Amino acid sequence: MEERPPSTSDWAEVRGSEVHGRGLFALKDIPEGKYIIEYLGERIDKEESDRRGNTLFDESQETGGAQVYLFTLDENWDLDGNFGWNTARLVNHSCEPNCEAQIDDELRIWLTAVQDIRCDEELSFNYGFGIDDYERHPCLCGSRKCIGYIVGEEYWPELRRIVKKKKAKEERKAAKERAREKKKDKKKKFF
Ligand SMILES: C[S@@+](CC[C@H](N)C(=O)[O-])C[C@H]1O[C@@H](n2cnc3c(N)ncnc32)[C@H](O)[C@@H]1O
Ligand SMILES: [Zn+2]
Repeated sequence: MEERPPSTSDWAEVRGSEVHGRGLFALKDIPEGKYIIEYLGERIDKEESDRRGNTLFDESQETGGAQVYLFTLDENWDLDGNFGWNTARLVNHSCEPNCEAQIDDELRIWLTAVQDIRCDEELSFNYGFGIDDYERHPCLCGSRKCIGYIVGEEYWPELRRIVKKKKAKEERKAAKERAREKKKDKKKKFF
């Protein structure tokens, strides 16, 4: 696709983020429901989307990142937002987001405020990632509700169960290790 200048919005601008890299920040108070910035990109069919998704996945396996910019528009079309001029791609994930991605009747995607947002607040939405690779996507959103990983909210109950089980297993392993060390110490004293 041709190069274009990065998209802009009267409501938000790019700044360094404490969550990760760069993010989008409110330039003024934004009322709930406001369309803030369009998530631009190339409309592609499902076959092309699968191909690009697989390429991005392979890249992420090598780099450890997860730069996912593919959005489902409907049963036929997706949108690839992986272009420098799509400024909205810089919005970070949050477990307690102040925005969501809304698709309008023309299949255009808009970052929309789900609550009143104060000037200078960082904008965020829930990336809605699946649970399979959760450990590869630790979340640093810093919200009180943070679940610890970038995962769609529908998977949170399952994620809580998995994390609890994993923690219990680690604790059992640590307790066994401590018991082993104690036994070794006792033997040393004895001889
Ligand atoms: C689409 S980019 C967002 C823009 C990114 N901050 C940048 O500067 O390129 C998505 C990537 O940002 C990072 N990211 C976004 N939200 C995050 C969060 N809550 N915690 C940790 N990393 C996050 C992850 O590496 C994710 O794969
Ligand atoms: Zn979080």
